[in-house]
Amino acid sequence: MKIAKAVFGTLTDGTIIDLFTLTNKNNMSLKLMTYGGTIVSLCVPDRHGELEDVVLGYAELDDFVTRPNPYFGAIIGRYANRIANGRFCFNDVEYSLALNDGANHLHGGKRGFDKAIWHAQEISGKTQGSVALSYVSTDGEEGYPGTLQVTVTYTLNDENVVKIEYSAKTDKKTVVNLTNHSYFNLAGAASGKDILDHELTLSADYFTPGDAGLIPTGELRHVTGTPMDFTQPMRIGARIHTPDDQLQAAGGYDHNWVVKKQDKPLAFAARLYEPASGRVMDVHTTEPGIQFYSGNFLDGGITGKSNRVYHKHAGLCLETQHFPNSPNQAEFPSTVLEPGAQYIQTTTYSFSVM
Ligand code: GLA
Repeated sequence: MKIAKAVFGTLTDGTIIDLFTLTNKNNMSLKLMTYGGTIVSLCVPDRHGELEDVVLGYAELDDFVTRPNPYFGAIIGRYANRIANGRFCFNDVEYSLALNDGANHLHGGKRGFDKAIWHAQEISGKTQGSVALSYVSTDGEEGYPGTLQVTVTYTLNDENVVKIEYSAKTDKKTVVNLTNHSYFNLAGAASGKDILDHELTLSADYFTPGDAGLIPTGELRHVTGTPMDFTQPMRIGARIHTPDDQLQAAGGYDHNWVVKKQDKPLAFAARLYEPASGRVMDVHTTEPGIQFYSGNFLDGGITGKSNRVYHKHAGLCLETQHFPNSPNQAEFPSTVLEPGAQYIQTTTYSFSVM
């Protein structure tokens, strides 16, 4: 496994941002940078062995920092997804978080982990290579209690698997929910195609319906008979325009599915298949939920790498996570982290062809 380190750019305050390139024996490569712990590119072979970059984003550091950036490839924290009204309570003490999504808190706030500068350490191996990123989020950052020490390790191996391992510790009771926000397009980010012809399978019998602000109502709704049923491979575009109140509120898919429990630590959560290229991506995770977001807010206002204009549905996200607004939903799996305990999460993205 080859790991190359280069300077990606310099922030206005002089901070140097590094770019790491991991290349495996199949020439599949993963590029990530220390700003936001962001996946900058992911080049994956198609059924003829042709490599294409399958994630949306920018080519230059400056663009990630100064141009509109809907969390391209970034680590999301301290809390991925929404917290209603940016509020939660521990024993009658209320915590107020930054509001950055109407009345709600989204993806860690105004300056979440996607904008943090991560400290990087390379770990080389024969058949796999890793970059371990660490960040200390101070007590009170974006309104969250407790100093949180976070490590996110990205690994690429010779089996074309990208693994992301997250861990965190706190010195005061807090909430944690981490994920990665890559926008995938398995036809190639530069193909100019949208993701509506991709076929998606989700290992989920239930999803969490949301209100107008995409906050879960608390209900776990069965997917059978709804456009949310991805238990069998289904073209994403097949039902996206059906007059369904959940799809209409979100402008497409932007919901959390409940990953079916399996008798192993890494449960199969999703399969994404792009018929023209043959590329397949399987997602396995320790997390109870997966947010499938069909790039509804992309509106042609962003020109990304290779001069591609990102129109609606130019890419999609599969964010493994705990459910949105869990700090205010006692019935949902807990996102509370106590001092002395450790938050851990592992998600793998395995690439193959069909
Ligand atoms: C997540 C959310 C979406 C949107 C995107 C970023 O996937 O669920 O509603 O905020 O992030 O644009």
